[in-house]
Order: sequence, then C-alpha cells, then structure tokens
Amino acid sequence: MDTLEALHTRRSIRKYQDRPVSEELIRKVIAAAAMAPSARNAQPWQFVVIDDRELLGEIPRTCPHASMVRHAPLAILICGDLDLEKSEGYWPQDCAAAAENLLLAAHALGLGAVWCGVYPREPRMEGLRQLLGLPERVIAHSLIVLGYPAEQPNSDDRYRPERVHRNGWA
Ligand SMILES: Cc1cc2nc3c(=O)[nH]c(=O)nc-3n(C[C@H](O)[C@H](O)[C@H](O)COP(=O)(O)O)c2cc1C
Repeated sequence: MDTLEALHTRRSIRKYQDRPVSEELIRKVIAAAAMAPSARNAQPWQFVVIDDRELLGEIPRTCPHASMVRHAPLAILICGDLDLEKSEGYWPQDCAAAAENLLLAAHALGLGAVWCGVYPREPRMEGLRQLLGLPERVIAHSLIVLGYPAEQPNSDDRYRPERVHRNGWA
C-alpha cells in the first residue's frame, strides 16, 4: 500500500477479530511511530504495550470512550516524557505525530486501530498513570487500540475547497 492510499483509506476501527497480533507487528507499528517528526528531533515519547486482559478491562473506567478496548487484543499508550523534551511545550504535538504514524502503519500492515484521546483530560491521564504505574514526568497522551479489523468503514472525501485560503484569508 503506498502512502497516499494508506492516508485516504485509513479509518478508525473499533471492532476486532479474536486473533492475536504478533510481536513482530507490534514492533513494526512502534518503529513507525518513532519515525515521526519531533521538535529538535527530541523523540520525547514512551510506548506502553498493554495486552493483559485485566488491565485492558480496567481502562474504560477512566477512558469512557475507549470501551472497545475490552474486546481488542492490545492497546498501545503513547506517553510524553518531559525529561526527553528539548523545546518546552512541543511534546503533545510530537506525540500526536507519533500516534498518526502508528495508525497509518497499522492500516498498511492489515491491522485496524483507533486513537482514543487521553491528553489533556486530567482524569484520564491520572487514571492511566495509576493503573500503569507511570512515573511522574511521563504523561499519558493517546491510547491506540488495535487488532485485526472486524469491520470495514467506507472512506470519504474530506477535501473542502472553502477551507483552503491563499495568500491570506480570502
Ligand atoms: C485526539 C483524538 C481523540 C479521539 N478520541 C476518541 C475516543 O476516545 N474514542 C473513539 O472511539 N474515537 C476517538 N477518536 C477517533 C475519532 O473519533 C475519529 O478519528 C474521527 O471520528 C474520524 O474518523 P476516522 O478516524 O475513521 O477517519 C479520537 C481521535 C482523535 C484525533
């Protein structure tokens, strides 16, 4: 699958086959996430792979819009590590770029994934910190739930010419 095809056909997947994802694929999607651009190339992220059923089942308590995680083989929590930051304040954007890379890589590899928002919602960030034992300077940013897709949403065209402006707001 080429890059543009992946961009245009990726959709959020919230239903998964009862099939495990290999360590090799997990490594591949994380490696793709880690290729994201970041301010001053700080790469200020950490990845927490969650495949323990009990932990997965606890996540919707603090992330109510992530209930699909109960039926997924795994989730990957992308965190910002404040001790790795080089330009203050950019880590959320860096982690968002990593999250999008991870989604696209999953799609290109035949997996399905959905980004469940964590940062900047304090109760979700704090709930995941406690559940997973995150250190104080590691901030939960986005939870990517993934597995083999059991649904195939259609692609749509989101290009809106009226949202494109040239040489100013015109
Ligand atoms: C910052 C962010 C937070 C999101 N949080 C959730 C969430 O908590 N639960 C969920 O099911 N989807 C979540 N999504 C996925 C969006 O609902 C989805 O990307 C959007 O509806 C567009 O659909 P698509 O991904 O299929 O193109 C989130 C996406 C982003 C970027």
